[in-house]
Amino acid sequence: MKILANDGLVEEGIQYLHKEGFEVDTVKRDIDDLIGDIKDFDALLVRSATKVTREVIEAGTRNGGKLKVVGRGGVGTDNIDLVAARENGVIVKFAPNGNTNATAEHALGLMLGVARKVPFAHATLKAGTWHKKRFQGVELMGKTLGIIGCGRIGQALAAKGKALGMKVVGYDVYRKMDSDVEYLDTVDDVLKAADFLSLHTGGRETLIGARELKLMKDTAFLINASRGVNVDEDALYDALKSGGIGGAALDTYRKEPKREGEPFANKLMELDNVVFSAHLGASTRNAMRRTGLEIAEVVAKYLRLGDFNQSVNAGQTVEEEGREIYTIFITHEDKPGMFGKFGMAFGEMGVNIRENNSRKLNEHVQTVYVVHQKPTPEVCERIGAIEGVKRVVY
Ligand SMILES: NC(=O)c1ccc[n+]([C@@H]2O[C@H](COP(=O)([O-])OP(=O)(O)OC[C@H]3O[C@@H](n4cnc5c(N)ncnc54)[C@H](O)[C@@H]3O)[C@@H](O)[C@H]2O)c1
Repeated sequence: MKILANDGLVEEGIQYLHKEGFEVDTVKRDIDDLIGDIKDFDALLVRSATKVTREVIEAGTRNGGKLKVVGRGGVGTDNIDLVAARENGVIVKFAPNGNTNATAEHALGLMLGVARKVPFAHATLKAGTWHKKRFQGVELMGKTLGIIGCGRIGQALAAKGKALGMKVVGYDVYRKMDSDVEYLDTVDDVLKAADFLSLHTGGRETLIGARELKLMKDTAFLINASRGVNVDEDALYDALKSGGIGGAALDTYRKEPKREGEPFANKLMELDNVVFSAHLGASTRNAMRRTGLEIAEVVAKYLRLGDFNQSVNAGQTVEEEGREIYTIFITHEDKPGMFGKFGMAFGEMGVNIRENNSRKLNEHVQTVYVVHQKPTPEVCERIGAIEGVKRVVY
């Protein structure tokens, strides 16, 4: 099978795919060449640069096109037409884990930077003046870290905060069982408790506006390495200017330049209690390597094993489809035709099969059918009567 990595792929990812028996092409195509060539590839790997439009998907799938899966090395899938992919039976997968530690570490770095005023001390020293008293800071140990959005990055940051002797509280719509976060009931509770408030929800809603900033301690620091839209920058400007909060450290902004080297303007830059970085959360060599390997693996697993993990336009598990599911366990002989007979019998009894998994056990095979109709003794009896079946249970 052939994979086109149109935005490049780390060497480890290429080696992994070769080892798994795939051919990998890393020659970058512009949109016209991509539309012309994509039908010959089983998978398309992209980062953010390649736009996987409806035209690309249709060119990859129509008239005998082979395209089966698109892999996005990273998180956002705004550059992929997920609807067109779904309509044409193309699964889209992403690689969200490779960036997790890099972004959590960056949030921690921003916290340390703003707490100890490192960027300001650096700038004044480089300008030729020794300032010591002016840059007295605060420590993280003993302070409360509040996290809104306790998913992959939030959890990773929580562990780091805890290791530094911070009390870690947080809010999430889902609560993870085994977590370093002490979950509070509302976002407001977190806002009131936090000495450092770090956002990690993603999403497109404004989480921190004038009301929320008023609830925060006047000594608190706001960290945003999530998405620029999560913070109302005008309200933040007012709070920082009036002493409503102690400071902020930002990696993401409502308006970000699209290309390297473009100018950046933001009125928050007038203030001297804000630390800035240029959306660097995921920008480490390690994260790039991990993400490249991760997307190579999840795409290969779909092509080789039909594994839906990390799909963004299809349920990763059958439960996510939202329909009732039941399991039926069949121990049977390993010989051709068994699955055909099971399928026929289920079909005649009106049992809709969603998935089946099967493993060899010495002489026999153990198969688990996931079905949408509740199993009955009659179903077991009918399947059990098929020659070569040893046992049927549900
Ligand atoms: N700065 C960077 O370079 C960089 C790099 C990677 C990711 N990110 C951002 O970080 C975000 C988080 O990434 P992740 O991998 O941890 O995602 P994730 O999906 O694992 O975690 C997000 C968590 O936020 C929770 N959540 C969503 N909306 C919420 C709300 N309104 N209130 C409370 N909780 C809410 C979700 O339940 C989930 O647990 C991404 O969406 C992305 O925007 C930034």
